[in-house]
Amino acid sequence: MGNTNQEQIKVQKTSKTKINDIDFENLVFGKDFSDHMFECDFKNGSWENPIIRPYGDLTISPSAKVFHYGQAVFEGMKAYKDDQGKVFLFRPDENQIRINKSSVRMAIPEFPKELFFEALNKLLNLDKDWVKPGIGNSLYIRPFVIATQPGVSASPSDEYKFMIILSPVNVYYTGDVKVEIAEHYSRAADGGAGAAKAAGNYGAQFYPTHLAKERGFDQVIWTDANEHKYMEEAGTMNLFFRINDTLITAPTSERILDGITRKSIIELAKRDGVQIEVRPIEVSELIEAAKDGSLKEIFGAGTAAVVSPVNAFGYKNVIYNLPPTASGFSAKFKKELTDIQYNRSEDTFGWRYEVVD
Ligand code: COI
Repeated sequence: MGNTNQEQIKVQKTSKTKINDIDFENLVFGKDFSDHMFECDFKNGSWENPIIRPYGDLTISPSAKVFHYGQAVFEGMKAYKDDQGKVFLFRPDENQIRINKSSVRMAIPEFPKELFFEALNKLLNLDKDWVKPGIGNSLYIRPFVIATQPGVSASPSDEYKFMIILSPVNVYYTGDVKVEIAEHYSRAADGGAGAAKAAGNYGAQFYPTHLAKERGFDQVIWTDANEHKYMEEAGTMNLFFRINDTLITAPTSERILDGITRKSIIELAKRDGVQIEVRPIEVSELIEAAKDGSLKEIFGAGTAAVVSPVNAFGYKNVIYNLPPTASGFSAKFKKELTDIQYNRSEDTFGWRYEVVD
């Protein structure tokens, strides 16, 4: 566990907000950032100098290890505003635990829980006008850690920077999503870092995803690296398959991210009496179900993507179209989740976390 010197978070406010320059009706996911950011450095074995300051560029040595060895992890969270103007987070304790798990996997010192929450609260209080009310609107929160020690020797850094930046967002996918099942490339393997939210896991997907995009798909469904036989995840989302009235999702493993939206949907399904199976699902089972009409829905689940229905998938040059899903499980769980997130329904699970002064 990384130590901290128990310092107060310093706050340097911006002299001029940028909020009036933002077109909140036409946001592009992750393009604009709020007025402030949080920064804290790991040096001499402890986290020090926690500061909130105006969002801006960093000065980092070109030999910093993050640039050469990709020693970096991140999280994705969202802040939601209800109709009374209260700001909420959704299960932030899960993100806090996960960023430290990812850090351990990448030989990065853990970030102290108390400081994580203090920083989040302070930063969100300062920039709470950037959280717009209304279902779909949110402030995407990106905590991340990068290795900042100069030097290109291939060994873990002695110095790191933990940061939180905030981006006003709306939808991640506009419209339904078309995915292609991977037959050659892999995202993760047993013993690898697939379960960590490590920067390189995402960068390594860009090329195969670009090839899939050229063939008309939005995303790749990754399959197991050994045989390409089992469905895994879609890179920015975990996946759910509805065969007749049973919902199926792959178990998490060393290869699959333990998604917070995923685990919340599993709990909602159990509560609602929806038959849910957490088990390996073979590509051949999916193809059979698509052919005999028992495959009713596929949807992705993630913080950025929320719940995104898949309208078609491709496998071995064949396109399988799915029936329209307006009243399906994806719509049901999206509503149940967002009602909790935006304080529109009772929070029986204790998932909401109110950001207070
Ligand atoms: C998230 O859902 O927060 C993610 O991490 C996806 C991101 C790569 C956009």
